[in-house]
Amino acid sequence: MVRKNTRTIKPRIREILSKKLPSELVGLLPKHWVQIGDVLILPLREELLPYKNEIAAVYAQVLGVKTVLRKGWILGEFREPHYEIIYGNDPVTIHKENGIFYKLDVSRVMFSPANVKERIRMASIAKPNELVVDMFAGIGHLSLPIAKHCKARVIAIEKNPYTFKFLVENIELNRVQDRMMAYNIDNRDFPGEGIADRILMGYVIRTHEFIPKALSIAKEEAVIHYHNTVPERLMPEEPFRTFRKIAREHGYEAERLKELVIKRYAPGVWHVVVDIKVFKK
Ligand SMILES: C[S@@+](CC[C@H](N)C(=O)[O-])C[C@H]1O[C@@H](n2cnc3c(N)ncnc32)[C@H](O)[C@@H]1O
Repeated sequence: MVRKNTRTIKPRIREILSKKLPSELVGLLPKHWVQIGDVLILPLREELLPYKNEIAAVYAQVLGVKTVLRKGWILGEFREPHYEIIYGNDPVTIHKENGIFYKLDVSRVMFSPANVKERIRMASIAKPNELVVDMFAGIGHLSLPIAKHCKARVIAIEKNPYTFKFLVENIELNRVQDRMMAYNIDNRDFPGEGIADRILMGYVIRTHEFIPKALSIAKEEAVIHYHNTVPERLMPEEPFRTFRKIAREHGYEAERLKELVIKRYAPGVWHVVVDIKVFKK
């Protein structure tokens, strides 16, 4: 993720746009943005919308990107961004991070800057002899680092056919075809049972609904990286309490190894990951 907030760039952008915009709008220009590969995601306030294309063209020129998107919302089962293209016409890019190539369509596939620490953490989490199952693979956000840097075997499951296309390309781009394979199915239809040493559950809001399936994929002893969104008033007991309750109902004991806050998801709600060791009782 490239964040260019250098001292020279912002004044340069303001200088150019002060000649094109009413003076009262210049102070509302975005001071923060996210660059993924050569695509920029720009948050724009309502007041600036009549000038969105001129503004986007200047940010593109100064920052040297090919396409600019207006930041919107990430919604639905597939966690798809709804971002409007306001400059250029090609939202597909290759983003390089921690030695991994991530090819994606930034306008339609989520790639969160706030998850960078977790992507980097995954690069040293597994041993080469492990079998890792990523139940919500996306474009391989969390499992490409495991295949590439830990050299573990990975099964990556992604339901959205459009995202899956990039997952398959990324496996080849990163030359991990020998140890990473992908399934374009709903993870609840995955046939493997009792096979995984480690399971990634990189999802939010409804992740608890998938705990029984994760347990059926896990070996009798396994580690599960369980992500979910949690109201602050329920922390720190949640989300582990719910995980353990469901695990016990399915004949497993659960031990919390580590818990990390990934990001603020909404006011008073946090995206959390818990590393959990599960044992069949
Ligand atoms: C929020 S993205 C997260 C990607 C990555 N795990 C991360 O944490 O950065 C979740 C992905 O799970 C996929 N997904 C949602 N429900 C699924 C299901 N039942 N089976 C397989 N994939 C699913 C979505 O299409 C999306 O690409």
